[in-house]
Amino acid sequence: MTGLLDRHLAVVTGSGSGIGRAIALGYAKQGAQVVALDIDGDSAAETVKAISRSGGKAHSFTLDVRERDRCRDVAAQIELKIGQISILVNNAGINRRNAFTAEPQAVITDWQDILAINLNGVFNVTHAFLAQLRATKGRIINIASIQSFMHVRTPNSPAYTTSKHGVLGFTRALAAELGKDGVRVNAIGPGFIETPLNEKVRATNPDLVRIFLEHTPLGRAGKPEDIAGPAIFLASDLSGFVTGSIIMADGGYRVV
Ligand SMILES: NC(=O)c1ccc[n+]([C@@H]2O[C@H](COP(=O)([O-])OP(=O)(O)OC[C@H]3O[C@@H](n4cnc5c(N)ncnc54)[C@H](O)[C@@H]3O)[C@@H](O)[C@H]2O)c1
Repeated sequence: MTGLLDRHLAVVTGSGSGIGRAIALGYAKQGAQVVALDIDGDSAAETVKAISRSGGKAHSFTLDVRERDRCRDVAAQIELKIGQISILVNNAGINRRNAFTAEPQAVITDWQDILAINLNGVFNVTHAFLAQLRATKGRIINIASIQSFMHVRTPNSPAYTTSKHGVLGFTRALAAELGKDGVRVNAIGPGFIETPLNEKVRATNPDLVRIFLEHTPLGRAGKPEDIAGPAIFLASDLSGFVTGSIIMADGGYRVV
């Protein structure tokens, strides 16, 4: 059977859980060899096992995207042991929901941690794999958010909104610069997706879920698998003339 991603080697950060794992599994189903990276190495190894069980080929490394030197080291190891990557998905991310007016130390910690992972982490990993992606005329897919455009008051932290605006800006800047090298750079903007990221808030704050669903024309929360399709499209030749774009996979949240 031929897949949309045959002969590709794809790296997915934060692929031990949620959206990242669904993308990794989706890519493997389309014929890509996958490298699962996560700060939680055991969870990345679980993703590899799930891919192997379904007949795919995958590898995992423990990686904290905040560690710039380690990102370079892992990129070099992958190139040496497996090959040059042609797809990079910057998915690793966290969220916390303290308002700017919350207890000052919590606000400061959130700002530092969220930007270190959601924005600087995207820089660190992309920079580490840049040479490989230029060599393969690769594709970069950044996981952005509804909050790349607005602040959703459910409540939410300003740091998260800032980080996701930054991810979209970075996507556009790189698309402009790397187009001449044949590298395409796009983003996906998920809406409310049921993952461990928001498990606690879903359990403790039914109002948040209600606010989201009332605002979503499709009337349901998303599943991680809802993001795999757009991620396959952006990684495949089906999107050969698409760069600098963001695909919203948000159930229509932004149209109402
Ligand atoms: N779930 C949603 O509703 C939603 C909506 C919009 C955007 N997103 C974005 O989607 C991405 C994935 O989120 P998810 O909902 O699947 O969350 P998740 O918590 O299920 O998965 C995130 C993964 O990232 C890993 N991770 C965290 N910090 C890391 C670090 N420093 N280095 C490497 N890996 C790290 C975690 O171990 C985990 O496996 C995030 O960027 C998030 O902001 C999620």
